Amino acid sequence: MENVPNSLAVKNVALSERTLEARYYLDSSVMKTEQQDLLYRSWQFVGHISDVISPGDYFTFSLQNQDYFLVRDTDGTLRGYANVCPHRGHRLLDGQGTRARITCPYHAWTFGLDGALRGAKGMSRRDVDFEKLGLISIAVDILAGLVFVNPSSDAVPLRTYAPGLEGQMLRACSDLESYVPDREGEEFGHTYICRSNWKVMIDNYLECYHCQMAHPEFNEMMAIPESVFTLFPNFTYQNAPTKKKAQNLAFPLDLDHDVLVGEFWWLFPNITLGRFPGTQNFYVSRFDPLKPDETSRFTLSLKPATPTDAGAPERDRLRSVWTAEVVAKEDRSLCEGVQRGIAQKGFKQGWYVTNFEDHGISEHAMQHFHGLYRQWLAAHGSRFAD
Ligand code: FES
Ligand SMILES: [Fe+2]
Repeated sequence: MENVPNSLAVKNVALSERTLEARYYLDSSVMKTEQQDLLYRSWQFVGHISDVISPGDYFTFSLQNQDYFLVRDTDGTLRGYANVCPHRGHRLLDGQGTRARITCPYHAWTFGLDGALRGAKGMSRRDVDFEKLGLISIAVDILAGLVFVNPSSDAVPLRTYAPGLEGQMLRACSDLESYVPDREGEEFGHTYICRSNWKVMIDNYLECYHCQMAHPEFNEMMAIPESVFTLFPNFTYQNAPTKKKAQNLAFPLDLDHDVLVGEFWWLFPNITLGRFPGTQNFYVSRFDPLKPDETSRFTLSLKPATPTDAGAPERDRLRSVWTAEVVAKEDRSLCEGVQRGIAQKGFKQGWYVTNFEDHGISEHAMQHFHGLYRQWLAAHGSRFAD
C-alpha cells in the first residue's frame, strides 16, 4: 500500500529474531492475566449498529464471562453497561429487545437509558444520593457501523488507538455503513472453536507464508507473491490481490461485480476485519480464549442490502461452502497442529521469517503483533519472568 500516512517502518531482517516463547501459549496464568489486563482493557467488537437503531433498543453480550449490554439512549447516544444491578447484583437484561427503562427483575430498581437510578422502592432522593447508584458504564465506539466496547476505565477512543483504520475500511468499501448483517449461514466458516491458543490463530492470520503449502485452492485463486502487509500503530493492513480468474479452484468470481483484491486488517490484540474475495462483503471477528489451548472465533459477516447482480446469491453460497469446508478447516488444522507442537518439551520458541521483497512469505506482521504483545508483557506480565 503506497503513501500510507502513519505506517511503521520495518527493518529488513531475515531469520534473525525469535517468536514469543511457547509458555505464553500454554500457561493458564498467562491466559488469566491476558483476560484481566489485556482483553478486558482493549477494544472488543460486539455487534452491528443496525441492532440498536431506535431509542430503547438493546442487546446483551458477554466478553470472557463478563456480561454487558448496549442500549440506544433517547438522545441518540449508544451506551454500554455492565449487565448487573448495583443493588445486589442481579442480571438486568436478557437477549435483545426494546425498553423505555431498565427495571431489575429482583427488587425492581429502575434505571433510565442514561444509566441513572430513577426509582427504588423504599428509598427517596431526600435520603439517598441516587447519583451514586447508577449503572456501571463501559466505553463504546463505532467504526463504520461496527460497534466496539472497552471495559477499561481509561479507554482511549478507537480513532486515537488505531489512527486511520476507519478511513482504510471506508476506502476499501465506501458503502460499508449501509451494509447489513448476514446471519443466515456460517459465512466464511469463521465462527468456530479451535483447539489452539488465541495467539496461534492471530499468528496464522498475520502471515501468508503458509498459504502456498497449506491452502492449495486459495493459492490457485490468489496472487500470493503480490500480497502486501503494512504495519500501523496497533493494527496491520494486508492487501491481497486475486489472479482475477473467473474460474479457479476455490469458487467462481464475477470480474464485474466481485471483490478481486482481498483486504484484511488486524487490530491489537484479538480483532480481525476484512473483505474476502468474491461477492461484496465485509466481516469482523473476535478471538476469545476459552482455555490456553481453546479459542472461540466469533464472526459477523456483512453484505450489501441488495445483491449486486442476479448471480450474486449463488456465488455467495459457493464461497460460503468453500470457506467453511476448505480454508477454515485447513487453518484450524494448522493452528491445532502448532498448539500440539509448541507443547513439546524440545520446543521453546520459533523464528520469524521476514522478507520485505516478498510479503507473500514474510512474517513481519506477526512480528508486529508480538512486539505489541511484548510491550504489554513488559507492563503487565512481570509475574511470568524467568
Ligand atoms: S438486585 Fe436489582 S433491585 Fe435488587
Ligand atoms: Fe491460512
